[in-house]
Amino acid sequence: MKNIVFVLFILFFGCTGGEHKNTLTQQPIVANEKKIDGETLFINNCANCHKPDKDFTGPALQGSLQRWQNDKKAMYAFIRNSQKSIEQNSYAKQIFKKWNGTLMTAFPNLSDEEIDKIIAYCDNITL
Ligand code: HEC
Repeated sequence: MKNIVFVLFILFFGCTGGEHKNTLTQQPIVANEKKIDGETLFINNCANCHKPDKDFTGPALQGSLQRWQNDKKAMYAFIRNSQKSIEQNSYAKQIFKKWNGTLMTAFPNLSDEEIDKIIAYCDNITL
């Protein structure tokens, strides 16, 4: 089974030139995207600036929801567009100042479920 996955991987990523046309790329490899776990989402999107347990370019993400008084809506709005949030939310303004006006990347396309997974990953990991 592992071999099949490997072959599909090679076919999928290795044959974009067009000569090696194959029908296997029709396989729903992208269906896996739905299952991207919190760790992968965190590494792909957030790890440039955040560590789960330590301050880095931005604050440690462990316990972040508590710092937002468990206001998930406000915190997720911040993650999707921190600039807008800084204008409207006093806590957002405060952390923006504390972090010397470093503007966080906006992630308008992350769903609630995806952010849930990232936060759960950061909160539960023991490093
Ligand atoms: C370019 C760097 C950068 C990236 C990438 C980034 N952040 Fe941030 N983040 C920051 C900075 C800096 C702050 C501090 C607030 C500010 O400066 O606006 C912050 C603050 C936060 C906060 C508030 C933390 C608190 O203590 O209240 C959360 C939550 C957060 N980020 C989540 C995320 C998530 C989730 C991702 C990935 C999807 C992410 N960040 C990606 C730089 C980044």
